[in-house]
Amino acid sequence: MIEVQGISKRFGDVQVLTDITATFEKGLVNQVIGKSGSGKSVLAKCIVGLYKPDEGRVLYDGRSFHELELEEKRVIRQEIGMLFQSSALFDSMSVLDNVILSFRVERWHAKKGGYREGDRHEPQIPVLR
Ligand SMILES: Nc1ncnc2c1ncn2[C@@H]1O[C@H](COP(=O)(O)OP(=O)(O)OP(=O)(O)O)[C@@H](O)[C@H]1O
Ligand SMILES: [Mg+2]
Repeated sequence: MIEVQGISKRFGDVQVLTDITATFEKGLVNQVIGKSGSGKSVLAKCIVGLYKPDEGRVLYDGRSFHELELEEKRVIRQEIGMLFQSSALFDSMSVLDNVILSFRVERWHAKKGGYREGDRHEPQIPVLR
């Protein structure tokens, strides 16, 4: 189960999310609806950890995602799939290479002996070779 508790997110002067609370039950198709620009994608990105909420928490089976160690986040992230709204593929790569990119990233981190703080800032180019 994923719980969103009191999430707020702002970009500069634009307050996008204000005190959002919701529960996403396992085994159900959960929907978020709202007019264009209301913050659905920002909420999704907060849930999967692409954005850190300014306030509030995202709980995965009771565990607060943004307070977890990087390795614990990695385990949860292996269960997450996200399809972006508009194309988010590398047009310099084949369809197959796009699909297996995440496996190559995992293998690259495994070879290095696991994740360390700062890994996400490193260029991902080596995994493409
Ligand atoms: N990285 C960002 N930096 C600044 N503003 C952002 C950023 N991401 C989203 N926004 C702003 O947050 C607001 C909500 O955007 P969001 O993309 O979440 O809307 P949405 O509900 O998904 O809309 P749509 O139905 O069109 O997909 C918009 O005003 C958008 O411009
Ligand atoms: Mg959207």
